[in-house]
Amino acid sequence: MLQVTGLEAAYGRARVLFGIDLAVEPGQLMCVMGRNGVGKTTLLNSIMGVLTPTAGKVVFDGKDVTRLPTYERVRLGMGYVPQGHETFPQLTVAENLQVTLEATKHKDKRAVDEALEVFPRLKEMLKRRAGFLSGGQQQQLAIARALVTRPRMLILDEPTEGIQPSIVQEIEEAIERLHKEKGLAVLLVEQYLELALRLADGFVILDGGMVQRTGTADDLRDEEVKRLLAV
Ligand SMILES: Nc1ncnc2c1ncn2[C@@H]1O[C@H](COP(=O)(O)OP(=O)(O)OP(=O)(O)O)[C@@H](O)[C@H]1O
Ligand SMILES: [Mg+2]
Repeated sequence: MLQVTGLEAAYGRARVLFGIDLAVEPGQLMCVMGRNGVGKTTLLNSIMGVLTPTAGKVVFDGKDVTRLPTYERVRLGMGYVPQGHETFPQLTVAENLQVTLEATKHKDKRAVDEALEVFPRLKEMLKRRAGFLSGGQQQQLAIARALVTRPRMLILDEPTEGIQPSIVQEIEEAIERLHKEKGLAVLLVEQYLELALRLADGFVILDGGMVQRTGTADDLRDEEVKRLLAV
């Protein structure tokens, strides 16, 4: 479903990614892990075209999307939830979902209800401004916005970072349901090893701007993995 080959990225002269290869199969949940600052967000931004890679290729559903603008990738089915739960803080929850719907190609209002089914807590807060929600609720809203676009693959950058434990669990359950029941492919950046162990079908670990390890969830338990993830 998603193939990334030889991907390189840099900020000015500072190179961050040195030839990343990774693939996500339909219905697979792939976890990207690695210490702070190894380039996880840079990788996702390059996959989504928020950042233009300096080399390499991104193929989604057999189509080379490397040079496409971000919104076209979203229309092809790549749903992106960037790090730091981005929402429109001045708009209400309902308005946040509505402006996202207006930007989609399908414009099907049912997509908003479907997204709210995934996070029922948001239904009680439709008239509240997003900026006044807790961090965890904002993260749920950010994921709900991505769902309104009706993605076939969900790309999430540390959705549980800095969020209260009760909502971490709701978010984990939501990701699990979207993956298992709706068959969504997921590319998840997650530093929380236990969560990755529970959810991931496969993982890649980045270090030094390269993929250092790949494997299945079981391999996440070994010592070398712990060394690569240790701070
Ligand atoms: N806009 C930017 N301009 C210059 N350097 C940047 C920029 N964004 C990130 N970097 C640098 O690129 C490297 C990779 O950053 P990135 O944010 O991709 O890491 P990360 O793995 O997502 O980290 P974290 O776990 O903290 O989210 C870091 O050294 C960072 O300082
Ligand atoms: Mg990051």
